[in-house]
Order: sequence, then structure tokens, then C-alpha cells
Amino acid sequence: MLELKNIRKKLGGQEVLRGVNLKVAAGEKVVVIGRSGCGKSVMLRHVMGLLQPDGGEVFFEGKKLTGLGEEAWNPYRRKIGMLFQGAALFDSLSVFENLAFPLREEGEKDEKVLRDKVAESLKIVSLAGTEQKMPAELSGGMKKRVALARAVIRRPDLMLYDEPTTGLDPVVGDSINRLILHLGKMFGMASIVVTHDMVSARMVGDRIAYLHDGKIYFEGSPEQIDRCEDPLVRDFVRGHASGMDVIG
Ligand SMILES: Nc1ncnc2c1ncn2[C@@H]1O[C@H](COP(=O)(O)OP(=O)(O)O)[C@@H](O)[C@H]1O
Ligand SMILES: [Mg+2]
Repeated sequence: MLELKNIRKKLGGQEVLRGVNLKVAAGEKVVVIGRSGCGKSVMLRHVMGLLQPDGGEVFFEGKKLTGLGEEAWNPYRRKIGMLFQGAALFDSLSVFENLAFPLREEGEKDEKVLRDKVAESLKIVSLAGTEQKMPAELSGGMKKRVALARAVIRRPDLMLYDEPTTGLDPVVGDSINRLILHLGKMFGMASIVVTHDMVSARMVGDRIAYLHDGKIYFEGSPEQIDRCEDPLVRDFVRGHASGMDVIG
């Protein structure tokens, strides 16, 4: 469903991506791990078409998107949902208006449809009845769940998660990971989850890809990555499996 082919990108004079290759099949959950600053968010921005590569190509559902204008990207973007690093809610809008936003943007004007869809999405993230709350009244974990409800309200075919558990306590983080799994099952959507947290990676990944030095350095199942003898991969996996977490 998605393919990144030899993606290269220079930002601020630095070659951040040096030939990233990644494939995601329909319904598959791929976790991308890597150190802070290694280019994970930059990679996700290429999937959304928010950044265009200096070299390489992005394919979505078999169609090459690279080189197409903004207009051509929009129908594809609608099939992709993204949970940004940090909840990125509109602070001046209620929970209801935050969730209704992507639907209104799509042209939905029927208030009953909006109310029903918002209520349904909030129920999925166990926040039924919170429509009238403002973001400032919510805890960090609740904000993340509202952002998640908003990201999936258009039922994307592909969900992108940028560090969904970073900055949350382990219990709340665990509930977000469960939600990611639950949403994948419920809607059969594919996901790319970017994280530096190995606990999350093992829990949600069908496949784990390690981004290092601007390339996918290693790729495999959670079992394969645990058995990997490569020192770089081992350091990363062990460093994080010991319960240490790096906020980045
Ligand atoms: N708009 C930008 N301009 C210049 N440099 C950038 C920009 N966006 C990201 N970078 C740099 O690219 C590198 C990768 O960033 P990022 O993808 O955010 O890392 P992470 O893996 O932590 O998500 C970092 O060194 C960052 O400073
Ligand atoms: Mg990032």
C-alpha cells in the first residue's frame, strides 16, 4: 500500500535521509525505531507529502505521488491519518470542535452526522461524553486520546503515529499502545508507528525497522530484532529494554 523508495533529503545543510527504503502492506503495523534526531519525523512528513524528497519516490496504493502537485496529493492525504508528536489539539476549540474539524474540512455540514461521528470516535477512545470539555481541562493521556480520535475520524487506510507514548507515564503509554492495536483490528488499517521506546515497538509492531544514519539499517520481526547480533541494533534494543526511556 505504501512504498518509500530510496528517499533522500537534505535539511539545514545536513543529509537527514540518505536513501530510505520502506514498504508497508495493507493492514500491516510497522514500527520505525531510532535515536532522537535520526530523521523519523522527517520520514513521516514525506509519507504525508508535507516534505518532498530531493531524491527517491513515494508510492501509495501503487501510484507514484512524487513529482505530482499539491492538488494531486490531497485525495491521498485524506486516506492517511496522522497523530503528531505532542497532541496538537486546537486549544481554543472544544473537544467536539476538534473532532468535527477534519469532517467540516471535508465539507460535512449535517450537524447530526457530525454529532454521531464525534460521539462514536470518542467512545472508541473511552472518552464518551467529553464533547464540551476544553483541551486545557484534560490530562496529557486524555489529550493524546482525543488527538487519536480526531486522527481516525475519517477512517484512514494508513495511520501514522509520531512518538505516541513519549512523555506519558508507562501506564498511560500502555493504554495508548492498546488503542493503536485495537484501532488496527477494528478498521483493518495499516500503521507506521515511530518511537524510540522498545516496549511499545515490541507490543505494536508486526515488523520493526531501525533507522540509522539516514537509512533503514535493520528490519525484521520483534523476535528477529531481539536475536540480532549487530552491535548497533543490540545497543539500541538493550538500552531501551532496561526500562530507561529517552525523551526526545
Ligand atoms: N525543517 C528543518 N530544517 C532544518 N533541519 C531540520 C528540519 N526538520 C528536521 N531537521 C533536522 O533533521 C534531523 C532529524 O529530525 P527529526 O526527523 O525530527 O528527528 P527524530 O528522529 O527525532 O524525529 C534533526 O537533526 C533535525 O534537526
Ligand atoms: Mg520526531
